[in-house]
Amino acid sequence: MTKKSLFAIYGAYGHTGRLVASELLARGEELLLVGRNVEALRALADELDAGERVRTRTASVDDVAALREVMTAADVVIHCAGPFAITGASVAMAAAEAGCHYIDHALEPHHVKGVFDTAQATAQRTGAVMIPGLSFYGGLGDLLAGALADGIARIDRIDRIVIAYAVNGWRLTTGAKNTATHLFAETERLTFSEGALHAGYVEPRNAVFPFPPPLGPRTMIAPFPSCEVVTVPRHVPVRNVDLMLSTSAFEAKDAFESEHIGAAERAGTDFTIAAQAIWEGGGVAGQLTGHDLWRAGALASVEAAVRIAEGRGPAKTGVLAPGEAFPAEPFLRELAGQGAFALTLRRGEGGEE
Ligand SMILES: NC(=O)c1ccc[n+]([C@@H]2O[C@H](COP(=O)([O-])OP(=O)(O)OC[C@H]3O[C@@H](n4cnc5c(N)ncnc54)[C@H](OP(=O)(O)O)[C@@H]3O)[C@@H](O)[C@H]2O)c1
Repeated sequence: MTKKSLFAIYGAYGHTGRLVASELLARGEELLLVGRNVEALRALADELDAGERVRTRTASVDDVAALREVMTAADVVIHCAGPFAITGASVAMAAAEAGCHYIDHALEPHHVKGVFDTAQATAQRTGAVMIPGLSFYGGLGDLLAGALADGIARIDRIDRIVIAYAVNGWRLTTGAKNTATHLFAETERLTFSEGALHAGYVEPRNAVFPFPPPLGPRTMIAPFPSCEVVTVPRHVPVRNVDLMLSTSAFEAKDAFESEHIGAAERAGTDFTIAAQAIWEGGGVAGQLTGHDLWRAGALASVEAAVRIAEGRGPAKTGVLAPGEAFPAEPFLRELAGQGAFALTLRRGEGGEE
């Protein structure tokens, strides 16, 4: 009998970590719940009630020895604790050094760039596959851009990828609120234009994005600081990546004061992620539409982790963008089949779905 893979979840008792843990258990996997609070870890293990399939291990992000033990024991780690500006680097580096496959839920562009910059050589040497930014914001936009590009005969002609998130009913967790606070305060924004990544101050502006009906045109915050500026150019030869988020994302009256609401209430988000690939004289578009953005992100990271553990991961090791690690459209279709969202790709003449 082959040995079962062990999936470590860092930040297991947060909202995202719990969704990831439940999904992995539903898929029959064995878990190592990891975080800095021993009581919270034990309480979650009791709640999951899965006997020997669930173990716990305390490790703070600055405890190098404890992180090393976790990464040596586990086959894959899914990092769900944020802000990743604080928690990201040490966990990612511990995974790279131990050859433990790594996926995270970051959207922060600087963190994702940092994993590519600092862990690439180590991960390639140890054989780890690392995919930072594989969640709802970031990962799904990257995969949608990849799915559009894969359907274009002359991919080299794409001038611009636009990814626009429309979200309603978002009620932020503590982790999401702290992450938003970090991102709002950031003055060194990463943007991708004219074929290069730039760091510097970018004035936020209001834009309008024409979502397909029933949404229609929506007021957007642009640029939206999300990690597709780092990941999309790794697998789509594009000159510009534009990211936007609907102002409606922050309009729920308790958007920033809902840290203690229950999981069922938090699940009440509606979303559309629309993407366009544009070139001179033409373009294609696609969208993902669904409910509960947290669950969609958790299903994405779990699907990636399970594929890698089962040997159905990317052919190469090292740090990879989501759309570089997996064939984008089949990956999205798998998630659509799991109920994460509905996928529509409009590929123009003859290709419309
Ligand atoms: N890209 C996306 O679409 C997406 C989707 C979901 C989540 N996320 C990100 O994932 C992160 C978690 O979100 P969430 O909604 O699950 O938040 P949450 O419910 O508030 O949980 C946050 C988790 O992170 C842990 N944590 C925070 N700071 C830590 C630190 N310095 N050291 C160790 N653990 C720490 C918390 O543990 P303590 O209780 O001990 O602090 C808790 O387990 C956020 O950064 C969020 O932006 C991104």
